[in-house]
Amino acid sequence: MEPVLEIRNVSHVYGADTPFEHVALDNVSLTVGRGEFVGLIGHTGSGKSTLIQHMNGLLRPSNGQVLFEGQDVWSDAKLTRRLRFHVGLVFQYPEYQLFEETVFQDIAFGPKNMGLSEDEVRARVLRAAGFVGITEKELEKSPFDLSGGQKRRAAIAGVIAMEPDVLILDEPTAGLDPVGRESILENIRAYQAAQGASVIMVSHSMEEIASNVDRLLVMNDSHLVMDATPAEVFAKPEELVQMGLAVPKVTQVLLKLRELGVDVPASAFTVEQAEKLLLPLLKGGKAAC
Ligand SMILES: Nc1ncnc2c1ncn2[C@@H]1O[C@H](COP(=O)(O)OP(=O)(O)OP(=O)(O)O)[C@@H](O)[C@H]1O
Ligand SMILES: [Mg+2]
Repeated sequence: MEPVLEIRNVSHVYGADTPFEHVALDNVSLTVGRGEFVGLIGHTGSGKSTLIQHMNGLLRPSNGQVLFEGQDVWSDAKLTRRLRFHVGLVFQYPEYQLFEETVFQDIAFGPKNMGLSEDEVRARVLRAAGFVGITEKELEKSPFDLSGGQKRRAAIAGVIAMEPDVLILDEPTAGLDPVGRESILENIRAYQAAQGASVIMVSHSMEEIASNVDRLLVMNDSHLVMDATPAEVFAKPEELVQMGLAVPKVTQVLLKLRELGVDVPASAFTVEQAEKLLLPLLKGGKAAC
């Protein structure tokens, strides 16, 4: 897969040379391929938000390099600026950052900053609104008059409107109900498919991660400790539990069945996969032991 973004031996120290010095990233290396959907998990304070802020140049590494399309983004101010337009970052609870008079103006903020023509800005706002299900009527409203879920969508649209090659989202579904969560995930997948974009998503929900990502990064105490497929990561439940994480509920059920002596592999992490494994057993009456 063609590499888009590379993090090479990046370390980040907050409050260097002060009594509050804290190493939040310790020699982290990874590559994001074009079009990939990558999940990022890790306990609170493990360094996830610090890591993604390096991916769009909001933080500068204390050590190491960040490369976008093969170029060191800190070697030239033009490259750092370019990175910020090509890698879009949606913060946690982004709806708190809505501030314009109308939803339209809010979504237009990023593309305007890129120096695009008025027509192009308008076209992008409409496309981005389409991806997240914001209607033309809602575009003319004040962002403060939208519901919680719609506010979240408007904020995500503001980043999508910049049409980034890499879309990074820090817990995009936090605090939403299950229907709202699934619909935001659908919006993200629609953008990824239409744009051929890479997506990096931080989440605390193992179910959400399991059913969306191609690859999974696991942070623990400032280190990147796993970089593998969800199947490979969830095959190590003890290690995950030690890091304060969990495996998806479905995998927990399969592990329990194995403990009880039922001969099933513990490799499923979505309901659909578990169904394929368990139905034949139930039909054969073997799962009754
Ligand atoms: N601006 C800052 N100044 C000093 N320390 C910071 C700063 N931001 C984060 N830290 C510390 O760096 C460590 C990593 O923080 P970070 O926000 O990257 O973790 P996280 O994995 O995103 O956590 P969470 O799941 O709670 O969002 C934590 O110990 C945090 O207290
Ligand atoms: Mg965080």
